[in-house]
Amino acid sequence: MPAYFQAHPSASVPRAAADDTDATAPILEALAEYTRQHTVRFHMPGHKGGYGADPLILNLLGRCAFVHDVTNVPGMDDLHQATDVIRQAQDLAATAFGAEATYFLINGASCGLQALVMAICNPGDEILVPRNLHRSLLSGLILSGALPVFFKPAYDPDLGIPLAVSPPSIAEALAQHPAARAVFVVNPTYHGITSDLALIADTVHAYGLPLLVDEAHGAHLRFHEVLPPCALDQGADASVQGTHKILAAFTQAAMLHVRGERIDRARLEAVLRILQSTSTSYLLLGSLDAARRQVAVSGRQLLQQALELAQGLRRSVNEIEGLFSFDEEWARERGAAGLDRLKVTITGKEAGISGLWAEEWLRKHYHIQMEMSDPYNLLAIVTFGNTGEDIELLLHGLREMQARAAGRYGSEFGPCPHHLLPPDPVLSVTPREAFLAPAVALPLEEAVGRTSVEIISCYPPGIPALCPGEVITSEVVTYLVLARELGVRLQGPADPTLNSIRVMR
Ligand SMILES: Cc1ncc(COP(=O)(O)O)c(C=O)c1O
Repeated sequence: MPAYFQAHPSASVPRAAADDTDATAPILEALAEYTRQHTVRFHMPGHKGGYGADPLILNLLGRCAFVHDVTNVPGMDDLHQATDVIRQAQDLAATAFGAEATYFLINGASCGLQALVMAICNPGDEILVPRNLHRSLLSGLILSGALPVFFKPAYDPDLGIPLAVSPPSIAEALAQHPAARAVFVVNPTYHGITSDLALIADTVHAYGLPLLVDEAHGAHLRFHEVLPPCALDQGADASVQGTHKILAAFTQAAMLHVRGERIDRARLEAVLRILQSTSTSYLLLGSLDAARRQVAVSGRQLLQQALELAQGLRRSVNEIEGLFSFDEEWARERGAAGLDRLKVTITGKEAGISGLWAEEWLRKHYHIQMEMSDPYNLLAIVTFGNTGEDIELLLHGLREMQARAAGRYGSEFGPCPHHLLPPDPVLSVTPREAFLAPAVALPLEEAVGRTSVEIISCYPPGIPALCPGEVITSEVVTYLVLARELGVRLQGPADPTLNSIRVMR
């Protein structure tokens, strides 16, 4: 076996093995049965199986999407009190993903992160969160009234990306904040870097606290032995997975998994009932059921194909002069426990090629859309939905781009002008207090020293540059101005030009 496909060193975990039950899909079967009966619909949604839909969207999506767009009708169970097909599908998912209980989410991984914070924290409670937290976790802090205590993952200044969280940094933060209610970690990062969660879990559990993992990018990890192990298999108490990100569920479909006794499930379920829509989309629920079925039955084989494609892409990128794509060894040398190799980060720094420019160039000239870009990097997510032709086209585009860009951009693109990890926030009040406070808009430069009421993030990756409750420093202003000048998409400010910013009055 080539070294590339040898098992991950900590792959000691039981992987899901397919059996006949795995192949069932209770929600999809119930959906098929309901539509087979050709029931005359006097229920929502108003398009009644597509007959009332606008022809433009009907032609675009086809009738099938509308026929199956039902909500909580008899026989379809109820996400908010699941006892039938949703319950069965969630139980199957719990088995496949190594959980004791799994909750289907129809409002993205965002909703799962918010629910965990609200299930655990009361107003004023401290919770340890990483500086590279996603903005949806910050919105959970606003909803709950919790006070974030930030710790820092390692950071690579060359590529400008967050790396792993070191277990000692968690131990240190816990020693300083023994009253904290939980610890959150993002694992894997957007770029696929993983931390030693087993050691982090031991550290966190020694304080009797739950370890919560934003595993939005890791729903596939459990299904191939060369991938880093998933959070629950390393001792985490809860993980939130965006099943739509790498697995094949529809956008917005996600799962929240829990195990052990450290999380009060009754409160968690009550919070989910508050946060999730009462008009549940069965297209989303059905796609979760299908995504689970697919990986439980043939995840390893599908991921093997994807890993081979990603490996081929990474190797060929590294043969193009001036381009670089890091591998697992690079990540480990910088303290990571592993790398999700389906994330292929492509850096054109040596050739003086900006990731932002490259993304646009590929879109314009090759009709290729990357997952994200920043001043140094392009990120490709390779999945079993990709083909060898996709990889070839991307490589073709990268080669042509490199040839055209060489020498033209080098002198303009100097030392790291901007990095993905914004300055450390210093909070004067909780995010919730700031969010709810009376606010006034000030010119950005005049806002230094005042407390922000806004969340402002570069999107993607969605790491907040500024949090509500954070004292605005000149460093943050410089960061935001630079991001704006570089054309990074900024999400959150009431004034999209960012000439002004809202602060506590
Ligand atoms: C690390 C991380 N966590 C959470 C989320 C939120 O996921 P969703 O878009 O499914 O709500 C994202 C979205 O990109 C993310 O990158």
